[in-house]
This record gives sequence, structure tokens and C-alpha cells, in this order.
Amino acid sequence: MASFKLSGNKIKLPSKVFRRNGMNYKEALQKNIFKTISDAAASLNVDAFVIGGFVRDHILDRGTHKDIDVVAIGSGIELAKAVSNQLPGQPDVKIFKTYGTAMIRYEDLEIEFVGARKESYNRESRNPFVEDGTLEDDQNRRDFTINALALDLNMSRYGELLDPFNGISDLKNKIIRTPLDPELTYSDDPLRMMRAIRFATQLNFEIHPSSFEAIRQQADRIKIITKERIVTELHKIIESPKPSIGFLLLEESGLLSYILPELVALKGIDEVEGQTHKDNFYHTLEVLDNISRNTNDLWLRWAALLHDIGKAPTKKFSKKNGWTFHGHEFEGSKMVYKLFKRLKMPLNDKMKFVQKMVLLSSRPIVLSEDMVTDSAVRRLIFDAGDYVDDLMTLCEADITTKNSRKLERYLNNFKIVRQKIVEVEERDHIRNFQPPVSGEDIMKAFNIKPSKEIGMIKEVIKEAILEGEIPNEYEAAFELMLKTGKKLGLKTHE
Ligand code: CTP
Repeated sequence: MASFKLSGNKIKLPSKVFRRNGMNYKEALQKNIFKTISDAAASLNVDAFVIGGFVRDHILDRGTHKDIDVVAIGSGIELAKAVSNQLPGQPDVKIFKTYGTAMIRYEDLEIEFVGARKESYNRESRNPFVEDGTLEDDQNRRDFTINALALDLNMSRYGELLDPFNGISDLKNKIIRTPLDPELTYSDDPLRMMRAIRFATQLNFEIHPSSFEAIRQQADRIKIITKERIVTELHKIIESPKPSIGFLLLEESGLLSYILPELVALKGIDEVEGQTHKDNFYHTLEVLDNISRNTNDLWLRWAALLHDIGKAPTKKFSKKNGWTFHGHEFEGSKMVYKLFKRLKMPLNDKMKFVQKMVLLSSRPIVLSEDMVTDSAVRRLIFDAGDYVDDLMTLCEADITTKNSRKLERYLNNFKIVRQKIVEVEERDHIRNFQPPVSGEDIMKAFNIKPSKEIGMIKEVIKEAILEGEIPNEYEAAFELMLKTGKKLGLKTHE
């Protein structure tokens, strides 16, 4: 059985997995960079430790971690400078004076140096009052026991694991737990409430009940955290293998109402005259999980998360039609802009992509229910352009029926739609449609200046192509142009 020393005690690592992975970080510490940090620390006569995500992820065998956090019992900045001096090319040391930290980029690594601190925070902001501390003080003020694991870089104890809060046992039992009283740890930095949920989602761990209760109690304190930090965690949840875990926890803890109230508004089932609609919150989470099995694209996953947000404001009941959500796609795409703006997310082509996906999200479903005509497929390609494959992926994920016969029928119809898209595109080249007859051609043919007739003729030609009345070719388009111009009273100049 593998074992690690802790302040004179032996920690037993009972599972085979841990024995295997236990060696993993020891191997990682053989990298030259750690020897260099160890030498530099010895030259300054300070102790140094690797701590946090690097240790956690190596023990969990989660691939190589490119961010390395080093804690020095002394000045982190001085240690960073000494390390840089010993590295080839002496990389820049980026110093963050306010926090007393420093960072070096070396090869593909980002190494963060911090002096061990005793820290308490101002309740209304994130500005800490910082005091020098011991390693244990530093471990105390970290977010979770699994992130407080430290590896000694001192030559005489090289690679020794320091685990004062039983982080190893929490890793093994898949528990997210704070080193101190959770109320204090979360109140020190409320972003940790989201980090707890993010780690639970990424690692498929459980948040300890008292920790979760503390999150529920102070969920409103997320308001003091900057949008950028919140979005970073949100992205990590969305990029997890099964993002619904995180969104269910965000909802249950109350955090979701502060971050994405549009999703909370989808929750619930109304009943009028015995008629109900589905719970669009849980449906959305199913769609998000479905799509996450087929794509790692963050923005396509965002589109899945937001594809139904327009349903809350457009929901109506009438005797004649039952529950309807008319125009929810259009309403939803407008809401995407507001939501991105509120969360200070970029209002760039990524946002436009999400908007487009939301706007078109029902189109292929309608196709899959009917006979798939060429003209409907041409219109879909015309509207979705380069995003048509992404749109199909979204719509396939949107099928959450529990009726296996229906499921099979829809999926089969989508297969037909996908096949038709390829055939139609090969023949008609509708993707990134360029009118075969240009405005210039029209002006020349009729000897006219820029005018609304040009737009009208172009529209007639485009419609004829999409309807399949003429092929997407110059000759046919030119002929239709002449005919349409004549109808509009224009004369060709001979
Ligand atoms: N940390 C903390 N409280 C925070 C953020 C970070 O206590 N609000 C501590 C944790 O010990 C964490 C370490 O700082 O392990 C490094 O933080 P960060 O790089 O943000 O996270 P990682 O744990 O490295 O995980 P990941 O790389 O997945 O974000």
C-alpha cells in the first residue's frame, strides 16, 4: 500500500487508482523546472511548495496541468526573480504588487508565485488585508481541501505531500469541502460558490451538504463578484462532460437567479383546462447534455443552453391552440444580445452565431416533421449559411421525446435532411449565396442608375432560385432579369 508522510503521520492511500496516480505527481516533479524552483528557494533560504490545481489534477490523472502555483514561505516575488535568473533566457517576471504575487511564463507553463499568507477580506470587496503566514495558514485560506494539497520542493523532503485537511480522502470519496467553516471560506471570496459547483461538474464530485447549505445561505453575495470571473466559471461548467450537473446545482443553490434569470424563468409546468406544456428548464438541460456528447464547441453549447429562452416571455394559452410560444425564436435571439451584454461577454461574431442558432432553432424540426422538399432545404442553407451543420447538430440534440418510435422517426428524418443538404448544396451552391446577376449587370442591361428596381429584380431572382424555378446560373438569371425588368417598365438599351 502506498503511503505519504504528513507531519510525522503516514497517510494511507487504499485504492489502486491512488497508488498508480500517487506516483504520477512524483514523476511530474522530476521536470527540470521544479528542480530549478527548488534550487532557487534553497539559495534564498526559503521553503517552497507546489500547491493547488497542479497537485490535484496529477493525483486525479487529469492530463498535464499547464498552470503551476508555487507558494513560498517568504517573498513569492523574490523567489520568482531568483527562478527567472536560473532559467535559460531569463523569462520576464510579471509582478502584481497589490497581491504580492509574480508570474513567469516558461515554455508552455505559467508559473504563479505567492508568499504564504494569512488573509482576511473586506466583506464588500475582494481587497484582502494580507499578512505573512506559514504554509498551514496558506492552506487554511484556500478554497477546497482538494485544492490545498501541497508538495514540498525542499531537497531533503522533495515530493512529500502535505495534506492537513484530508484532501486525499476527499479526492477518493469525490467530495468538495472547504478547509475551514464553509460560511467563512465562501464569504472570503463568494466566487468560490461557483467554483464549488464548477469542480462538482467537471469532476463529478459531490458538494458536502454543509458546504452546499452555506452556498444557499449566501448566494446573493455573488453580486459583488465581477461578471468576467463569473463567466469564466460558467464557461468551465458548460464545457464539462455533463453540464446539467452544474446547472441543477446553480438552480438549487439560488445562484442561477442572479446569473441567468432567463433560465430560471423557464422552470415549471402550467396547467390550464387540463392542458400542460413541458418544463422548458429541464428540457433545456437535456438538450445541453445531448449536444455535449456531440460537440466541444463552447458557443454551440451556449446556443443549446439559450435556444428556448424566448419561451418564457412568449408563452400563451388559448382555448383554440392550447399552449403556444409564437415567435420565441426571434424573441430569444434578441434576449441573447441583452444577456451577453449584461454578463460583459463579447458582442462579436460568437454572439451573432449564438443569436443565429437560436433564431433558426426550430427550422429543421419543422422540416423533419414534413416531407422534405428541395426548396425548404435550399431556404435552410440560404439562411444558415456556413452554420447549417451546427444548426443540424443543435436540432438533433433538441429531440428529447421519451417515445422511442417518435425518436427514431425524427432522427431518421434528420438524416434525410442532412443528406438532402449535401445533395442540394452540391447542385445549387446556396451556401454563401452570391446573386448570379449583380446590381452592376442590371444597371448596364437597362441603362439605369442605382434604384429600388434593382433590389426588386434581385429579390425575384433569389426567390426563383430558392423555389427551384430556375437554376442558380447566370444565363437563366439573366433571362429572368430581362423578363422582370420589362414587367417593371424598364427598357433594355440596344
Ligand atoms: N484558489 C482559492 N480561491 C479562489 C481561487 C483559487 O483558494 N477563489 C486557490 C486554490 O488553492 C486553487 C489555486 O488557488 O487550487 C489556483 O487557482 P486556479 O488556478 O484558479 O484554479 P485551479 O485549482 O488551478 O484549477 P483550474 O486550473 O481548473 O481553474
